[in-house]
Amino acid sequence: MISPSTVLVLGALAKSASAAMASTFTAPAAAPTDQSPFYVGANNGTITNSPTVTGKVFDRFIQIWLENTDFASAASQAVFQNLSTQGITLSSYYGVTHTSEPNYLAAGGGDFWGLYDDDFEAVPNNISTIVDLLDQKSISWSAYQENMPTDGYGGYNYTNQADGYTYYVRKHNPLIIYDSVSQNTTRTGRIRNFNDFAVDLGNNSLSQWVFVTPNLRNDGHDTDVAYAAEWLNYWLVPLLEDPNFNTDRTLILLTFDENETYTINNQVYSILLGGIIPAALKNTTDSTFYTHYSTLTTVEANWDLGNLGRQDTNKTVNNVFSFVASETNYTNNNLTGSGIPFLNLTTTIPGPLNPQYYVPYLAPTNGTGGGSGPTFFAPNVNMSLNTGDAPAPVNLTAAGTSGASEVRVTMGLLGAAVMGAAMMAYI
Ligand SMILES: *[C@@H]1O[C@H](CO)[C@@H](O)[C@H](O)[C@H]1NC(C)=O
Ligand SMILES: *[C@@H]1O[C@H](CO)[C@@H](O)[C@H](O)[C@H]1NC(C)=O
Ligand SMILES: *[C@@H]1O[C@H](CO)[C@@H](O)[C@H](O)[C@H]1NC(C)=O
Ligand SMILES: *[C@@H]1O[C@H](CO)[C@@H](O)[C@H](O)[C@H]1NC(C)=O
Ligand SMILES: *[C@@H]1O[C@H](CO)[C@@H](O)[C@H](O)[C@H]1NC(C)=O
Ligand SMILES: *[C@@H]1O[C@H](CO)[C@@H](O)[C@H](O)[C@H]1NC(C)=O
Ligand SMILES: *[C@@H]1O[C@H](CO)[C@@H](O)[C@H](O)[C@H]1NC(C)=O
Ligand SMILES: *[C@@H]1O[C@H](CO)[C@@H](O)[C@H](O)[C@H]1NC(C)=O
Ligand SMILES: *[C@@H]1O[C@H](CO)[C@@H](O)[C@H](O)[C@H]1NC(C)=O
Ligand SMILES: *[C@@H]1O[C@H](CO)[C@@H](O)[C@H](O)[C@H]1NC(C)=O
Ligand SMILES: *[C@@H]1O[C@H](CO)[C@@H](O)[C@H](O)[C@H]1NC(C)=O
Ligand SMILES: *[C@@H]1O[C@H](CO)[C@@H](O)[C@H](O)[C@H]1NC(C)=O
Repeated sequence: MISPSTVLVLGALAKSASAAMASTFTAPAAAPTDQSPFYVGANNGTITNSPTVTGKVFDRFIQIWLENTDFASAASQAVFQNLSTQGITLSSYYGVTHTSEPNYLAAGGGDFWGLYDDDFEAVPNNISTIVDLLDQKSISWSAYQENMPTDGYGGYNYTNQADGYTYYVRKHNPLIIYDSVSQNTTRTGRIRNFNDFAVDLGNNSLSQWVFVTPNLRNDGHDTDVAYAAEWLNYWLVPLLEDPNFNTDRTLILLTFDENETYTINNQVYSILLGGIIPAALKNTTDSTFYTHYSTLTTVEANWDLGNLGRQDTNKTVNNVFSFVASETNYTNNNLTGSGIPFLNLTTTIPGPLNPQYYVPYLAPTNGTGGGSGPTFFAPNVNMSLNTGDAPAPVNLTAAGTSGASEVRVTMGLLGAAVMGAAMMAYI
C-alpha cells in the first residue's frame, strides 16, 4: 500500500535525486521560433484552424504549466518579478489535488476522477473534455508538448535517444489521457511537438486555445526554479513581444500544477499575461480564489461554450478570472481564508480512478458553468449512471487485493464483481 506520506517522501527523494543531476539550461535553438533536433519530433506540417471566433473578452487563451516551485522561490526570480509587472499576479490560485496527473486531468475534463498517482491512465471515450466544448463552437485548439516524439503520441513517456534522458511524460499531457481525444485522429493531430510550434507560430497559425507543457527539465520538475526561469527567459519572454503569439486579444496563464507540500493547502504561483490585460491592471495582484477549474470556466464565459457538467459547474471552485468575470457578468464567490476548501486531499475523493474509494464514471450533471449554454452530453455517454443513481463508493483495496498498482490492474474485473450490474453496464 502506498500511503500519501510515503508518496510525499518518495516524491521528495525523486525530486532531490533528479535535482542533483540538474544541468545548466541549454537553449535548444537560437529562438523559440526556430526548430531544433532536440525537440525530437519532426515538424508535421502546419496546423489548419477554423476562422477566428471572437470572444467576449479575448480571442486566444494560452496556458503554460510549470512544476513544483514555491511561490516565494518563484517570486525571488527576476523573470517572475519582471513578468508580474506586465500582468496580474494571482495570489489565491490553487491546484485541485495531488499528484501531478490529476491536476492536468482536471484542466482537460473538469474532474480528476479520484486519481492520486501518476500512473498510465486512459479515460473512456464517452467522457468529454474542453475539446468537445471548443469543437462545438468551431474554436481551434492545440497542445504543444516539448520533446514528444510524434504528434498525438500515446506512450507513457519518451526517452531522448541523443542523451538518454526522459524529457516527455504523458502525465503532463492532459488531453492525451482522454480517449475521446487520443482515439480520434482528427484530434490527435492537434497534440503537437515544439517543432510544430515553431512552424505554426511562424505561419501565424496558433490556435485560439493553446496548452503548453515544457519538458521535465524546463518546467522545473527535474531541476529547480532557476532553471525554469532560464527557460522562461528563452521561450516566453521574447514570445510576449511576438505578434504571432501575443496579440492585443491574447490572454496567457502561467501557472504550476500543484504545491509541493501535501500537508498544507494547494496554493500555486500564477500570473495572467498577454495583450488583453488592461493597462490599469498590469503590475497588480488579484486575490480572488481560483483553481485549475477556473481555466475551464474562464473560456466558457468568454465564448459561451456551455459546460462539462463536472467541477466546472461547482460554484465553490469555478471562479472566472476576475477581469473576465466583470466583463461577462459572471458572479464569482468571494471565498477567502478559512472559507477556501482544502484542495490538498488525496485518496479520499471518490472516483473511477480511485481504487480506495471507487465509483464508476458518471454522466455529467446538468449545471451552469462560466457562461451561458447547456451542459454537454457526449452521444455515447451512459445516462443511466448519474449522480442521482450513483452507487455508494466501494473500497476496492479493502475488498481484497493488496497494493494500489495491483488493484489498478485488476480493477475492471474486481470492480465488476463488487459493483454488480451498474458497473458491468459501463465496462
Ligand atoms: C505552497 O503553499 C504555500 C502556502 O501558501 C506557499 O508558501 C508555497 O509557495 C506553495 N508552494 C508551491 C510549490 O507553490
Ligand atoms: C522585463 O523584460 C523586458 C523584456 O526583456 C524588458 O524590456 C523590461 O525592461 C523588463 N522590465 C523590468 C521591470 O525588469
Ligand atoms: C503526423 O501526424 C499524423 C496524423 O496525426 C501522425 O500519424 C504522425 O505520427 C505524425 N508524425 C509526426 C512526426 O509527428
Ligand atoms: C518511463 O517509463 C518507464 C517504463 O514504464 C518507467 O520505468 C520510467 O520510470 C518512466 N520514467 C519517467 C520519468 O516517467
Ligand atoms: C473526432 O473529432 C472531430 C473533430 O473534433 C469530430 O468532429 C468528430 O465527431 C470526432 N469523432 C468521433 C468519433 O468522436
Ligand atoms: C491540507 O491542508 C490543511 C491546511 O493547510 C491541513 O490542515 C491538512 O492537514 C492538510 N491535509 C492533508 C491531507 O494533508
Ligand atoms: C510595480 O508595483 C510595485 C508596487 O506594488 C512598484 O514598486 C513597482 O515600481 C511597479 N513596477 C512597475 C514596472 O510598474
Ligand atoms: C464542490 O467543491 C468542493 C471543494 O472541492 C467539494 O467539497 C464539493 O464536494 C464539490 N461539490 C460537488 C457537487 O462536487
Ligand atoms: C453585462 O451587464 C451589463 C449591465 O446589465 C450589460 O450592459 C452588458 O451587456 C452585459 N454584458 C454581457 C457580456 O452580457
Ligand atoms: C462577491 O463580491 C462582489 C463585489 O463585492 C459582489 O458583486 C458579488 O455579488 C459577491 N459574490 C457573492 C457570491 O456574494
Ligand atoms: C439537462 O437540461 C436540459 C435543459 O434544461 C434538458 O433538456 C435535459 O433533458 C437535461 N438533461 C438531463 C440529463 O437532466
Ligand atoms: C480502503 O481500504 C484500505 C485497506 O483496508 C485502507 O487502508 C484505506 O484507508 C481505505 N480507504 C478509504 C478511502 O476508506
